[in-house]
Amino acid sequence: MSLIDPNVDLLLQARVGLTADSAFQTAWPYPSWIAHRGAGRLAPENTLAAFQVGLDHGFQMIEFDVQITADQIPVLMHDATLERTTNGEGPVWAATAGQIGQLDAGRWHSAAFEGEAVPTLVQVAQWMQSRGVLANLEIKPAQGLEAQTGEQVASVAARLWSGVTPPLLSSFSVAALEAAKAVAPGLPRALLADVSRWAAAKAPFEAPFEAILRTALGLSAVAIVIQHAGLDADRIALAHSAGLRVLTYTLNDAARAQALLSMGLDGVITDAVDCLGPGARSG
Ligand code: G3P
Ligand code: MG
Repeated sequence: MSLIDPNVDLLLQARVGLTADSAFQTAWPYPSWIAHRGAGRLAPENTLAAFQVGLDHGFQMIEFDVQITADQIPVLMHDATLERTTNGEGPVWAATAGQIGQLDAGRWHSAAFEGEAVPTLVQVAQWMQSRGVLANLEIKPAQGLEAQTGEQVASVAARLWSGVTPPLLSSFSVAALEAAKAVAPGLPRALLADVSRWAAAKAPFEAPFEAILRTALGLSAVAIVIQHAGLDADRIALAHSAGLRVLTYTLNDAARAQALLSMGLDGVITDAVDCLGPGARSG
């Protein structure tokens, strides 16, 4: 049976059939192991303390989540609201960067990290570039602010990472990635997707993985980042034949990670920075 769904549009059909080597249009400077939110669960997520723990475990690339404040400053925050990971409250979009900068983003995790701050993207760029650590910048827009967040985050990122290896911009939001492409076309993009959710919500009449590939190609993305349960050897090969690198999130099982890497997977985003990755025997 063909791997290609007959309904896949012409763009995808034109790209598949190329060999993997000739299909890749862009250099791939990124390592195979990426620390999720800095250091997974070992330190408060999306803080510079977590980044340091990830680096201490040998990770040369870090995934982090970025959204914008009321005054349009990109800051690191996963949730739409401040309650879970800081001592503040309310939506991130409703607070200024000055207000968020006063918050404690470490105490919720453990006493050892009390006083840790919510970093701005400016601070993160400085930290990463001074240490040679690469970025997977996940654009995490609040509902209704998808395009605005994509535009603002990408334009700031393009200024901050000028002349160095760029951050890999990723997002579940197609609108955010479209806005990022418009304002900073030179920054590489990756479409984040959970195949099972995509099937139900976005493409009920199209084979979901092919729909994800088609959408990624429409964004001129260089990669897809897929929830790990949705990957197998055929899908990795199909994405490669379409010229897309394949990463997975958030994978904490060593055997599964090694199996996917042996199938050609290009990157693993993991919480298990003390068990998997460059510093671990299994890595
Ligand atoms: O970027 C991969 C992963 O971080 C996506 O899920 O919710 O942890 O941001 P989440
Ligand atoms: Mg994330």
